[in-house]
Amino acid sequence: MITIKNAAQIAKMREAGAMLHDVLTQLKGKIEPGMTTKELDRFAEKLIRSYGAVPSFLNYEGYPASICASVDSQVVHGIPSASTVLKEGQIISIDCGLILDGWQSDSAFTAGVGKISDDAQRLIDVTEESFFAALDFARAGCRISDIGHAVQQYVEQRGFSTVRALCGHGIGREMHEDPQVPNYGIPGHGVRLRSGMTICIEPMIAAGDYHVKTLKDGWTVVTTDGSLCSHYEHTILITDGEPELLSLPGYHKEEKR
Ligand code: MF3
Ligand code: CO
Repeated sequence: MITIKNAAQIAKMREAGAMLHDVLTQLKGKIEPGMTTKELDRFAEKLIRSYGAVPSFLNYEGYPASICASVDSQVVHGIPSASTVLKEGQIISIDCGLILDGWQSDSAFTAGVGKISDDAQRLIDVTEESFFAALDFARAGCRISDIGHAVQQYVEQRGFSTVRALCGHGIGREMHEDPQVPNYGIPGHGVRLRSGMTICIEPMIAAGDYHVKTLKDGWTVVTTDGSLCSHYEHTILITDGEPELLSLPGYHKEEKR
């Protein structure tokens, strides 16, 4: 069921998004060689709770942490570990979500550890750019598949591939609500977007092939060919005008981040 949020509910989701943005910004500042993904997870959980919010990933379908920390060829759902020590030249995707007074926010970014190759930086940049290309279709009257089509066009024209096995989603009281928001497809299909809908667009872009598999831990998704993968996500409010990035407060299209 797709839920339309009222002004009071949107205000709460805006607050949750601003909080999550702060958490992710602080996490980004901690990424350096020698840091473990477990330390990043501890830090995130403490910060979220200090704000009076709840980490939404922790215990979600049994997930054991408050963030997902996915390194290099890991696509998403990497489980933080004291034995995962970040090394110069790696890329790490951090995905995090929180619940404030019953309302969810979900966001992810990818960053380099120390100095990274130009190719890795290009993958991160193109992934973010594909999100913003898709955002042009996150408006009332567009169809859900217009978003995925925009992601696919953008990344394939630049020699990358878009992971198909996982997709974005509606969000609200639940982290995952209808509709699903795929990152590929032909335009003009699926649900028509309406003002008051809140969705997560989250391109997962691989340097190689788009096929993925899940490791034996039951969570970690990796590219089958071992190629690097980047992830970028925000919680978005559909309006009658420009979309509002709830997890990127102060964003205006003209300025672009
Ligand atoms: N944040 C992911 C998403 O974007 C879901 C995290 S799964 C969890 O949909 F198990 F880690 F919570
Ligand atoms: Co999500």
